[in-house]
Amino acid sequence: MLNIAVLVSGGGTNLQALIDSEKRGEIINGTISLVISSKPDAYALERAKNAGIPSRVLLRKQYAASEDYDCALINLLREYQIDLVVLAGFMTIISDRVIASYRNRIINVHPSLIPAFCGEGFYGLRVHEAALERGVKITGATVHFVNEVCDGGPIILQKAVHVAGDDTAQTLQKRVMEEAEWQLLPRAVSLFCQGKLNITNDRVSINEQ
Ligand code: GAR
Repeated sequence: MLNIAVLVSGGGTNLQALIDSEKRGEIINGTISLVISSKPDAYALERAKNAGIPSRVLLRKQYAASEDYDCALINLLREYQIDLVVLAGFMTIISDRVIASYRNRIINVHPSLIPAFCGEGFYGLRVHEAALERGVKITGATVHFVNEVCDGGPIILQKAVHVAGDDTAQTLQKRVMEEAEWQLLPRAVSLFCQGKLNITNDRVSINEQ
């Protein structure tokens, strides 16, 4: 069994999708062993508690130097013998040191079809505001490995979602979550835990057999 840590900052609906998926037995060879929140009042912490999953709050501002924060995060991941780190709406930037320590073992869910509406400053509702502003007719979600380039790591799964004429950022966010994120993230996690994701030349191939 691989130990999974889910890093959160907000509502935690993607965490909930992972918890529900694990309960249904769909996360093959993996278990959520730890939830780490960057905010003490994140509702995601309630979800972890309700599911009986240990959780910790790690505040960047509690550490004077970024190296100290990195060490605290890495030590916590080691303490729980974490094999896979899942960023599920985690709003603190993951440093190069942490990425190097967990090379190809950190995945992120992003609420657009990368490379559209991604990179620095594109998170949460802002992504959907930008999509509506541009007038795209199709958007979606992406699950990808995390490397040193913001939202630039190898893409694992993507799913398209239609944009309605009367969408607000909120209605679009909800549709992208329901139709794409909550399906893609548990699937990508399960594929990882089964050793079915191979990365060659920054591209992911899925070994489905
Ligand atoms: C999700 O839509 C996720 O894709 C997004 O934040 C939301 C978190 O919601 N992540 C990013 O924008 C990362 N750049 P949740 O807390 O309900 O899972």
